[in-house]
Amino acid sequence: MLLNGPSTSATDTESAVDTDSATGRRAPAVAMLRLLGGFQVSQALYVVARAGVADQLTDGPRPVAEVAAAAGVRPDLLRRLVRTLAAERVFAFDADQDTVGLGRLGHTLCADAADSLRDVALMWMDTHYGPFAGLWSTLHDGVPAAEREFGKPLFDWLAEEQDRLDGFNAAMGNLLALRKDALDSLDLRKVHHLVDIGGADGTALAELARRHEWLWGTVFDLPHVVTAAAPVLREAGVSDRIGTWGGDFFESVPPGADAYLACFILHDWNDEQCATLLDRVREAAGTGARLFLVETVLDEGSAPEVATLLDLTMMGMLEGRERGRADWQSLLSGSGFRLDRVVQTGGPMCVLEATAV
Ligand SMILES: C[S@@+](CC[C@H](N)C(=O)[O-])C[C@H]1O[C@@H](n2cnc3c(N)ncnc32)[C@H](O)[C@@H]1O
Repeated sequence: MLLNGPSTSATDTESAVDTDSATGRRAPAVAMLRLLGGFQVSQALYVVARAGVADQLTDGPRPVAEVAAAAGVRPDLLRRLVRTLAAERVFAFDADQDTVGLGRLGHTLCADAADSLRDVALMWMDTHYGPFAGLWSTLHDGVPAAEREFGKPLFDWLAEEQDRLDGFNAAMGNLLALRKDALDSLDLRKVHHLVDIGGADGTALAELARRHEWLWGTVFDLPHVVTAAAPVLREAGVSDRIGTWGGDFFESVPPGADAYLACFILHDWNDEQCATLLDRVREAAGTGARLFLVETVLDEGSAPEVATLLDLTMMGMLEGRERGRADWQSLLSGSGFRLDRVVQTGGPMCVLEATAV
């Protein structure tokens, strides 16, 4: 009996576990139980990601015992995890053969997949999972659960240990897949020098520079973060055109570029902090300079459920939030930018194009 092998049928895009052939729907209590059990499924995904189970299956199904031995985990317990995650289409479990293969979603836990979320699985469970037990308090006093758990804001806590930073940056690298459509949609034809605000290890700007050979640029991030960019830029062969700049975007932003990009940045911060950051960008940018924000826009975009999920992440981890079009318009105009257009992309993120006026 094979549970949930890979499939490309149209109905496979629907969640099979939410429907059944008799009634067309599971009982609400069953659907709710699955939602409530989400914390267990998250941990199950974490341990198989950490054990590298999916990476062992890229050439096809293998005996559970063999996979468990290679991962150094107990076969009897791995078998039970695999069976549970087969119901979520992560694995395909053949009980008769006692083999495990990849289900429709399984490759996203492989380290090398183009749409890998393995580092997100590791980082969310290492960093986000604990704080989320404190959401009850956050709901009352607005203090991000992570800040209460860590005793300091998330980015300060991350800065204390290189391992934490590496894990966070790796997860951001995974999430680039979510932003790929947005970065593809950036209209950089008339841009000469682009500053990537909060550009982390430079992965995004390196890719943009590789694609647009006329583009010069600067990766701007906190000093201890931006040090990771030099090797990335070198490896991409763009370090002659793309430099790095360490600083605090609430104090100042590299001046004089004709365009600024802030990808996945403003949603981390509350409205007051966003206004400060945008004021700093406006001071750095001359009139007519372009600003590209890559963000979700609530109720817009091709996967609005990603925006609401990220909104929850922001509530638990930071002071930020996801925003609707009117929120963006008002933030931008308050700091001297005109919102020119919102570009919908094939993915969950939008590009908000603005001009310094
Ligand atoms: C959510 S990550 C986004 C990274 C990148 N733009 C991307 O799309 O993958 C936010 C980035 O903002 C940076 N950051 C946070 N506070 C900052 C500050 N005060 N000044 C400059 N950068 C900051 C972090 O180090 C991190 O790289």
